[in-house]
Amino acid sequence: MVESTPGAWRAADEYLADTLVGSDVHLERALSAQRSAGMPEIEVSPVAGKLLNLLVRISGARRVLEIGTLGGYSTIWMARAVGEGGRVVTIEAEAAHAAIARESIDAAGVGDRVDIRVGRGEDVLPTLVGGFDLVFIDADKESNTLYLDWAAKLGHPGTVIVLDNVGRDGEIVNDATSDTKVRGTREGLRMLGEDSRFDATALQTVGVKGWDGVAIAVLV
Ligand code: DHB
Ligand code: MG
Repeated sequence: MVESTPGAWRAADEYLADTLVGSDVHLERALSAQRSAGMPEIEVSPVAGKLLNLLVRISGARRVLEIGTLGGYSTIWMARAVGEGGRVVTIEAEAAHAAIARESIDAAGVGDRVDIRVGRGEDVLPTLVGGFDLVFIDADKESNTLYLDWAAKLGHPGTVIVLDNVGRDGEIVNDATSDTKVRGTREGLRMLGEDSRFDATALQTVGVKGWDGVAIAVLV
């Protein structure tokens, strides 16, 4: 039996990505542009990017909101899924990141579907018109509850909400943690569990990004 180690999780994740996701010149380009620019390598994994793409298609989402563009990798996955006439609005706090993302998204041929709003979520979200069918939250973890509240306001019954990074190497069970990212993650999860606007679950993940997780919710 294979020992359960981070290396084995990575190998199995790479096998799944090779088998089910494949590689793609535009997504690879987005990742290399992000790396060359010295941006953090914290984009969603290939299997998670494909999951976002499938969730958009399964839910029939045409209007997608992303909080946290980074280099546009997940944005491209979702922009492909909304189809012709669909729209992704994506919020990025760092203007330099947004500029790299813009180039990669345009190069991928989905630029006309993607509206990048530069600014902090707390400033940009109040300016948006609602009606989003799927919201992907993948930004500063400290603001998770603020983002979830906006997702509820800007969505409608049936809107799908995906919240990234809810495992954090198992640290989520540590109620005494001083790590603000873990605290923000726990607060987001508590809100998803307690706030009657949401009906949610979460899955832990192991793979190329270590041990983490993703929460998926629907607006009631
Ligand atoms: C971090 C943020 C992410 O969105 C992610 O997917 C992994 C790590 C972080 O800030 O630590
Ligand atoms: Mg993330």
